[in-house]
Amino acid sequence: MNQQGSAGDFTFVLHGASGDLAKRKIIPALAHLAERGYFSEHARVVFSQREKQTPDEALAGVDAFLKNAGDEAGRKNLGKLKPFLRTLPITLGAADAKAKMDECLKGLPEPHVHYAALPSSRFADLLSCLDSVRDPNRLRLVLEKPLGFNAAESAAIEDAVAAKLDESQVYRIDHYLGKQAVQNLLALRLGNRIFEPLLTREHVASVQITVAEDLGVEERAGFYEHAGAIRDMVQSHMLQMLAIVAMEPPVSLEANSLRDEKLKVLKSLKVPQITGTPEIVVGQYGEGYVKGQPVQEYKKEKGVNPNSTTETFVAFRTEVQTWRWAGVPFLLRTGKRMPKRFAEIVIQFRDVPKPLFEPVGGQWTGNQLIIHLQPADKLELRLLAKTPGERERLKPVSLDLDFFNTWRIPVRDAYERLISDILRGRLGLFLRRDEVQTQWAFTDNVLNGLKRAGVEPSPYTSGTYGPSSATAMALRSGALWAEDSV
Ligand code: BG6
Repeated sequence: MNQQGSAGDFTFVLHGASGDLAKRKIIPALAHLAERGYFSEHARVVFSQREKQTPDEALAGVDAFLKNAGDEAGRKNLGKLKPFLRTLPITLGAADAKAKMDECLKGLPEPHVHYAALPSSRFADLLSCLDSVRDPNRLRLVLEKPLGFNAAESAAIEDAVAAKLDESQVYRIDHYLGKQAVQNLLALRLGNRIFEPLLTREHVASVQITVAEDLGVEERAGFYEHAGAIRDMVQSHMLQMLAIVAMEPPVSLEANSLRDEKLKVLKSLKVPQITGTPEIVVGQYGEGYVKGQPVQEYKKEKGVNPNSTTETFVAFRTEVQTWRWAGVPFLLRTGKRMPKRFAEIVIQFRDVPKPLFEPVGGQWTGNQLIIHLQPADKLELRLLAKTPGERERLKPVSLDLDFFNTWRIPVRDAYERLISDILRGRLGLFLRRDEVQTQWAFTDNVLNGLKRAGVEPSPYTSGTYGPSSATAMALRSGALWAEDSV
């Protein structure tokens, strides 16, 4: 056993084990955990999938997939899973599915952790194979986002889950909460005295959250055409980050304390204005160049409707309507086929009440606290410092806290952290039903508003940061988007 300790006995049943997400993220994460000594000798991993394969064949398939994707780190420990692995060829929804699953799991150590790496349309088939055992020490269920495609679908899935399991058995994944930078944000806010008093409407001019991706839709048109950027990225990842930035300090780090505070933020969000002076811009990528390579327009991607109106970019302004934050613009933006992959949260502080110094370049940028989520994992505090010499001039300088350079430990993939929490029964980094419902209510309001107003995505050139109207929208809130402010 290593210093982290073993998570003990369990059986981890991965449904959808031959799917993209399982091969790309979940299986490598399990393999790394096995290598780090998280599995007791009795622990078992079961690949539940349609294909009939031996464990060796299944692992070889994952290895080939990762090799093709150039993911050497993911391949590294696959062999460590072998002693724990079984395969279960099964078609969820078929008449014999439950009997096959019961037979395979008979006598295997509890808790049985069922991980649904499946489209949510198949969750009901999985649920029909589970017994109603209302005990988290015996049964846990892990659900991947998105849970349905709107609030009503999500509620129907949740009702089916609640008919069999208690809330304490359900782990709703948003992998952004497994990212180290997001946990550092919590630590920054709640473990330090110096920032918390400043995170209020008195001191903060705006907050912006960007998740920019250079990739396009890749092989996922079947899903993405129905989802679009708002359901895919805003509904959970972006709203969760916003909630963590804006929430009140919880009474403890216990899961429900955190979730209670996030929920209050989610409930207080203002729906962006769509008509008049719009507070939201949607876009769809056209052809262009990304990292010097020509790329085609979204409408020509494999599996995409040539007349598609799916948004691949969204930028909007919202407000957290609480005493702490009322009136402060929260600007959120995400898109595919941007010039580079980066994600960050920028807290822009107000200027000093009376400037006494001369700004270099004539323009004040004020103080910023930047939480870089990727590619770097660091905190940056931009301060104004006097330039050398006789003139009283100030220039922005950065204080950087780079987590890799500080700890010299490689950053673990978000899934590794989340799966280890699931195995240990820790719910803090997972969403509660009411959070998901509130996020869907917000997303539905935005999507319905766009539909009612007949707004269709504006085209933008691949390799740019979306339609120029997004810049204008941010400027109306007195903000420049992150890449513009560097
Ligand atoms: C997923 C979305 O949840 O997050 C994808 O479905 C997106 O469309 C991905 O590419 C981004 O995750 P990350 O960790 O690469 O920023």
